[in-house]
Amino acid sequence: PRTFWSIEEMVSARLFVNSSWISLLLWLHTETEAGLTPPHDLFMLTLNTNYTLTWDWDQSAAGSDSATFTVQYAGNHQLKKRNPKWTTVCAETSGRSCDLTRSGLNYLGLYTVRVQTNLNGSHSVWKSIQFCPDKDAAIGPPSKVRLGVSGSTLDIFITDPQNSSNNSMKEQLHKLYYEIVYWEQPEDGKGSMTMTMTTDVTILTLSEVEPWTRYCVQIRSRDDFYNKSSTFTPPLCIQTEGVVPWWKIFLFFLLSLVSCFLVVLLFLYGSHHCFHVCKATFLPNEKLPSYFKEDGDYPCLIVSELDQCDPVMIVCPESALLETNPAVDSAALPAGLDQDRRSFGVHLAPFLLRSAGGI
Ligand SMILES: *[C@@H]1O[C@H](CO)[C@@H](O)[C@H](O)[C@H]1NC(C)=O
Ligand SMILES: *[C@@H]1O[C@H](CO)[C@@H](O)[C@H](O)[C@H]1NC(C)=O
Ligand SMILES: *[C@@H]1O[C@H](CO)[C@@H](O)[C@H](O)[C@H]1NC(C)=O
Ligand SMILES: *[C@@H]1O[C@H](CO)[C@@H](O)[C@H](O)[C@H]1NC(C)=O
Ligand SMILES: *[C@@H]1O[C@H](CO)[C@@H](O)[C@H](O)[C@H]1NC(C)=O
Repeated sequence: PRTFWSIEEMVSARLFVNSSWISLLLWLHTETEAGLTPPHDLFMLTLNTNYTLTWDWDQSAAGSDSATFTVQYAGNHQLKKRNPKWTTVCAETSGRSCDLTRSGLNYLGLYTVRVQTNLNGSHSVWKSIQFCPDKDAAIGPPSKVRLGVSGSTLDIFITDPQNSSNNSMKEQLHKLYYEIVYWEQPEDGKGSMTMTMTTDVTILTLSEVEPWTRYCVQIRSRDDFYNKSSTFTPPLCIQTEGVVPWWKIFLFFLLSLVSCFLVVLLFLYGSHHCFHVCKATFLPNEKLPSYFKEDGDYPCLIVSELDQCDPVMIVCPESALLETNPAVDSAALPAGLDQDRRSFGVHLAPFLLRSAGGI
């Protein structure tokens, strides 16, 4: 049996090893297209639980062919395994960003996110970054702020920043709190010194504020564990109220008294006027009904042959009266008038007896 190799054998074995190294390197070279540059400037654009990976790539290297990109992520615990499981989020995307929001990354997890360039069926090497949402994700300002005034105090209602399913971010950041900056805004527009306070509740009252003063408020979210702080909300302003000064109360009282008096006066005048109008319309004591005055066509006869106490009467032909006032009922004649006058075709309406008194 052979115990050692000849020189020739050893040289050929060495050559075989060398050539297999070279062929392995060559294979790697063709697989990754050493010329194809990977993406650069990887950056995680984050807000609450919205995570978007952005990168850059020089298109001029690709000529007219358009490059695409593939983005994958894996939990760092996966990477310790022999065959780590990479999850593809964006495959062959032509943009320069990839939204990982819906990938269900755990807020407290630690991930590796990687991206490669694909061009003409070949791929660049991967470029990767570490990503831990709890540590790296930016926090957003309160999703809503509302101000209210109750007397001389100022109420602030804060709505927590929200994660991508519209739930409070306090679920992810238990120690989330708010920094409230507020200041007086005088009429002349000059701002005054700002005051700052912090709170972890969402409804609070500022009681040490001046009455009848305009205040402006800006709020930001903060979390101290990874020293996170959001941008400030846009300023919101509101005017406080307060105790009404005595002279104002007196003035209001005086004004309401005067207006009450005026209203009563107007009412009295109005009802007096109305009374006269109504009286003139329905009980025309002094005047004839208008149709008698207007109807000049019918010859009317003034009769004054009755007793002294009887009023002057106007006698018109039957036709005229029937036409103008068919409602006049001959049967309603007072008992004092005899039937002969009626037989002459003269109708004497009862109201005539009363109304002609003034003529
Ligand atoms: C995440 O934010 C980006 C912009 O920063 C936006 O285009 C995208 O729609 C957001 N994603 C979700 C799921 O809201
Ligand atoms: C891409 O492939 C096509 C043929 O498949 C070839 O003509 C072209 O030159 C290639 N482009 C690059 C940049 O390699
Ligand atoms: C969250 O709220 C916004 C507006 O209030 C709405 O457009 C969006 O669809 C909501 N998203 C979810 C997941 O409920
Ligand atoms: C948002 O918060 C709710 C409640 O804590 C949680 O169930 C949900 O998974 C969260 N969504 C994201 C995208 O983190
Ligand atoms: C926290 O961040 C702010 C800027 O956002 C910085 O000024 C401050 O020094 C940081 N504090 C610590 C303890 O890192």
